Amino acid sequence: MSKVTVVGAGNVGATCANVLAIKGVADEVVLLDIKEGVSEGKSMDMMQTAALLCMNSVVKGVTNDYAATEGSDVVVITSGIPRKPGMTREELIGVNAGIVKSVVENVLKHSPNAIILCVSNPMDTMTYLIHKATKLPKNRIIGMGGALDSSRFKYYMSQALGANANEVEGMVIGGHGDTTMIPLKRFATYKGIPVSGLLDAETFNKVAADTMVGGATLTKLLGTSAWYAPGAASAMVVSAILHNEKRIIPCSALLKGEYGESDLCIGVPCVLGKNGIEKIVELDLNEEEKAAFAASAAAVHKTNAALADALK
Ligand code: LAC
Repeated sequence: MSKVTVVGAGNVGATCANVLAIKGVADEVVLLDIKEGVSEGKSMDMMQTAALLCMNSVVKGVTNDYAATEGSDVVVITSGIPRKPGMTREELIGVNAGIVKSVVENVLKHSPNAIILCVSNPMDTMTYLIHKATKLPKNRIIGMGGALDSSRFKYYMSQALGANANEVEGMVIGGHGDTTMIPLKRFATYKGIPVSGLLDAETFNKVAADTMVGGATLTKLLGTSAWYAPGAASAMVVSAILHNEKRIIPCSALLKGEYGESDLCIGVPCVLGKNGIEKIVELDLNEEEKAAFAASAAAVHKTNAALADALK
């Protein structure tokens, strides 16, 4: 019996729960929200698709009832407010830090062995906050951003190449911010062929630039933050953990010297399995990539510095 709790039944949390159930990633999914009726209603709506979609997972909605989350293998935290057009993810820190801290404390009372997947923004800083607040082993706290950003990178590359996105490989590392993420063009391939040899420099640079503002572009179109890809990326990370897939997925991890950085959570390629982050893969970055990573880490450190004030 596998059990996953998703905290926050907003667009991202509900989409994550829905993908987990439709793809049969977990036997049981608990969707928890503070708003009376919302998670119950969304879960019932999802369960009414079971007979249509051959869905065997059970989704249960609860209002603030952490006892119902008891014994979860993985807990996905999507709580907090999303950004509005023109806002950066970093501007959410004041409101979201307090919410995420209290959610994680409640979660661990009932699932002390759970692996925690942080989705709330600013994602790298919220992941770091969870480390600071819980002092759990570093393998058990994961930030989702790189999984989403890498999927967007693959989307934009597949569009430029006229290719199937499933045949395109690529990773985005660094912070989950419009100016901090680093699409690794040099490592991107189409069926093993370097994409750098298939796209001209101008087109490939535009792919990278579009990837970086992928979330902001959608926020502008939708009037609020995106949810299909963030929800699906979260579910994919949960699957890698629950099914011990040993996949390499860029995620926000606590660094202790890797990539020359310490005391922050930032996107790096991670091997994900039943223990959460089982290994951080250290890529052989060139000077330009190293400089971009150092600048990204400096920006994430700066946002982290605002945590102390946010939690006062
Ligand atoms: C995005 C939000 C979820 O990138 O950070 O869409």
